[in-house]
Amino acid sequence: MNRNENVTDRVPVLVTGGAGYIGSHAVLALKDAGWPVAVIDNLTTGFRFAVPDGVAFYEGDIEDAELLGRIFEEQGTRAIMHFAGSIIVPESVEDPLKYYHNNTAKSRTLIEAAVKAGVPHFIFSSTAATYGVPEVSPVREDTPQSPINPYGWSKLMTEQMLTDTASAHTLNFCALRYFNVAGADPKARTGQSTAGATHLIKVAVEAALGKRDGVAVFGTDFDTPDGTGVRDYIHVSDLAAAHVLALEALMAQPERSLKMNCGYGRGFSVLEVLDAVDRVTNMTIDRRMEGRRAGDPASLISDPSRIRANLPWQPEHDDLDTIIAHALAWERKLSQLRGEG
Ligand SMILES: NC(=O)c1ccc[n+]([C@@H]2O[C@H](COP(=O)([O-])OP(=O)(O)OC[C@H]3O[C@@H](n4cnc5c(N)ncnc54)[C@H](O)[C@@H]3O)[C@@H](O)[C@H]2O)c1
Repeated sequence: MNRNENVTDRVPVLVTGGAGYIGSHAVLALKDAGWPVAVIDNLTTGFRFAVPDGVAFYEGDIEDAELLGRIFEEQGTRAIMHFAGSIIVPESVEDPLKYYHNNTAKSRTLIEAAVKAGVPHFIFSSTAATYGVPEVSPVREDTPQSPINPYGWSKLMTEQMLTDTASAHTLNFCALRYFNVAGADPKARTGQSTAGATHLIKVAVEAALGKRDGVAVFGTDFDTPDGTGVRDYIHVSDLAAAHVLALEALMAQPERSLKMNCGYGRGFSVLEVLDAVDRVTNMTIDRRMEGRRAGDPASLISDPSRIRANLPWQPEHDDLDTIIAHALAWERKLSQLRGEG
């Protein structure tokens, strides 16, 4: 059935991976805007405390088609935001089949369950890693996608499954290709909680709070203004807001699917980020200069023209110091939650 929802409808949304870093921010964005939300998460890297009260929580795996069917029925699910997955690039190189299983095969199960139940809208967490080492920066969506690791491939394959499924069935989708996600909910209700995370800003604020000795800078001889890698950091709450707008766009035009970069379209070098962390924390964090990591592009910046043209997206936290301040506030709260502070 192709029921064209009115954009003002607040249809029930199932968030997979909603106990994780980005998913928990999407849950808040949906809930704050009055959407009925349910979460499925197997808690492998997520945390039960990250799912707010009032949100139906199903502890389970997205490969459990029976559970998915039950959730769709109980919740009346009309849209899926699919964050669940494995995200560590080096691990994907060592254990590729884990990534093709958890990210690709299980996404297939989820998409099939959605088609079977007639869930018409699907939003997928894709990644700039699907571009591999792009020849141009900023990167447009029509830049050839040529991943250089199994993680990127596992995500690109899912984009392809969605493209083909949307052609064959009554489902439209939006693949959002995130650049570097950072920061935390401005009210510190959730944030990145994974131990041993490798994201630069997370690592730097951990160092600021004495949880690490310092920060390693991988590569100082790139062809960039200061020799260190340049990345496009997007505040996680702005990213979550983009998901809600993408859902509204899918509901307004059920025949149309979208693939869009998510970034601000400007980059900061590793040293610029670390200078900003020093500035925000009023400290001097130790930096260890190390060699390049295999496969790290010099610069990875999104061209955000498409998302700007297609969604009424008005980022509220496009400011490096704000991103760092929010990450720091969450890191402090996390220490308290864990009884460390
Ligand atoms: N963090 C980034 O910078 C970034 C960049 C690009 C894309 N992404 C994508 O965004 C999504 C969310 O990433 P994140 O940073 O929030 O990671 P995360 O590890 O914090 O969240 C993933 C969540 O999915 C859950 N999960 C994993 N496999 C599952 C399964 N089979 N069934 C049910 N639940 C499962 C985990 O328990 C966790 O709560 C991922 O798909 C990731 O590939 C993240």
